[in-house]
Order: sequence, then C-alpha cells, then structure tokens
Amino acid sequence: MNVVLLGPPGAGKGTQASQLVKQHGFVAVSSGDMLRAAVREATTLGQEAQAYMVQGQLVPDTIIIGIILEHLATLDAHKSILFDGFPRTQEQAEALHDAGVVIDKVIEIRVDDEKIISRMAGRLFHPASGRTYHVEANPPQVSGKDDITGEPLTVREDDRPETVKKRLTVYHQQTQPVIDFYRVYQEVSPIQYCVIDGAEPIDRVAAAVAAIVAE
Ligand code: AP5
Repeated sequence: MNVVLLGPPGAGKGTQASQLVKQHGFVAVSSGDMLRAAVREATTLGQEAQAYMVQGQLVPDTIIIGIILEHLATLDAHKSILFDGFPRTQEQAEALHDAGVVIDKVIEIRVDDEKIISRMAGRLFHPASGRTYHVEANPPQVSGKDDITGEPLTVREDDRPETVKKRLTVYHQQTQPVIDFYRVYQEVSPIQYCVIDGAEPIDRVAAAVAAIVAE
C-alpha cells in the first residue's frame, strides 16, 4: 500500500511519517530529508537546492522529480511506501503517475496558517537524523538534546517566521493543485482521499492516520 501525506509546512507530516514507519513498516520517502542531507554533504545538488530552501521556495521540478524517481528504483518493490513532502506540484503528481507508481491513499493533514506560524516557533530539530521535537507538544527527554544520540538540537534555517509565511504562500499556490489532482483522480480510480484535523494533539492525529491506513 502506497500512501501520500499532504499538508502545509509544519502540519505534522514528518511526525506522523516516523510513527507509520515504526508501527506499520512503511519505507518513508521524504523529499525534504533527502534535500537536507544533500545540503549537509555539500553535494552539487545540495548547493543548488539550498538557495531555494532558505528562501522558502520549492526546488524546481526538473531537479526533484529525477531524484525521487531514481530513489524509488532502489527500493524493495514489495515494501509499502509513505511519501512525505512529495508530490507537492501537479507536475510531480503526474510524474509519479506516469512512472507507474500506484498511490492507494492520500491523507491531507489540515492545519490553518495562524496555528502553523505559532507551532513552527517551537520546533526543534536533530540535523543528522531528521528527528523533530516541539518545545511544548513533543519535548525531548532532556531539554535541547536528541533522545537517541544526546546531540544538541537546532532550529531549522527555514523556520524563521518570514520564511514560514513564504512557505505557506508557496503551499497554497503550488500544492493546492495536487489536492485537486487527487480529489478528481479518486472519481476515476480506487484511490482513497482523506482529510484529518492536524490541529488535534499528536497522538490523536496519529490515531486518525493509523485508522485510515488500517481500513
Ligand atoms: P520539507 O522538509 O518537506 O518541509 P515541509 O513540507 O514544509 O514540512 P515540514 O518538515 O516543515 O513540516 P511537517 O509537516 O513534516 O511537520 P513536523 O512533523 O516537522 O521541505 C523543506 C523544503 O525542501 C521546502 O520548503 C522546499 O524548498 C524543499 N522541498 C521539499 N520537498 C520538495 C518537493 N517535493 N518539491 C520541491 N521542493 C521540495 O511538525 C512540525 C512541528 O510541529 C514539530 O515541532 C512537531 O513536533 C510539531 N507537531 C507535529 N504535529 C503536531 C500536533 N498535532 N500538535 C502540536 N504540535 C505538533
């Protein structure tokens, strides 16, 4: 079963993805994590992507589609894939479809912009693993330290309020067509499109996601 998690920056896609990987055996494909790894390793791709990411803009389709399709070709074909952050333009959704990747469920985690802006101010991040915390909603066991490695947590460069606002604008302009794409597509295919309230506490969102996956 292949699942797409959709939602604005900070909706909780990564948080829910890590639970689904642990509890349901999905392989996560996170375009954001892949790009941040390339930035950390200072690859050519990373240097090119960073210029877009720090400004809250999407990395061009011509770059990201190839990376994701190449990565998919390396995965065990029998594993269920969880897409986190991809597709986020109509071109990306069409590319997935044209490559023969069957999507069974699309879960849209909906949170309004105001809540996102205040939520992002509390996000803490472990760069090496991508593990994410929140000072109030999901604090680390030791303040400022990663639960697994004990390494210091940081704030993501693109979580500054002005960049978050830009990312929200980009989401509404460029990812809304993906929502429309899947909503229309479900009328002619067995794909299931579900919306859940991402403003609920993390465990309640997780229960809602798990129920959809188990259906
Ligand atoms: P990416 O990393 O994909 O960022 P995003 O989609 O903007 O999502 P985030 O990772 O910011 O948030 P999330 O929804 O995963 O929320 P999280 O679980 O962390 O992309 C980054 C950049 O890379 C993009 O801007 C773009 O430049 C580029 N990029 C990536 N993919 C691309 C693509 N396909 N095409 C082109 N460019 C691409 O939660 C957020 C915080 O809230 C955490 O602190 C968490 O603990 C907390 N939290 C989570 N759930 C709850 C809850 N229910 N209640 C309270 N707090 C909660």
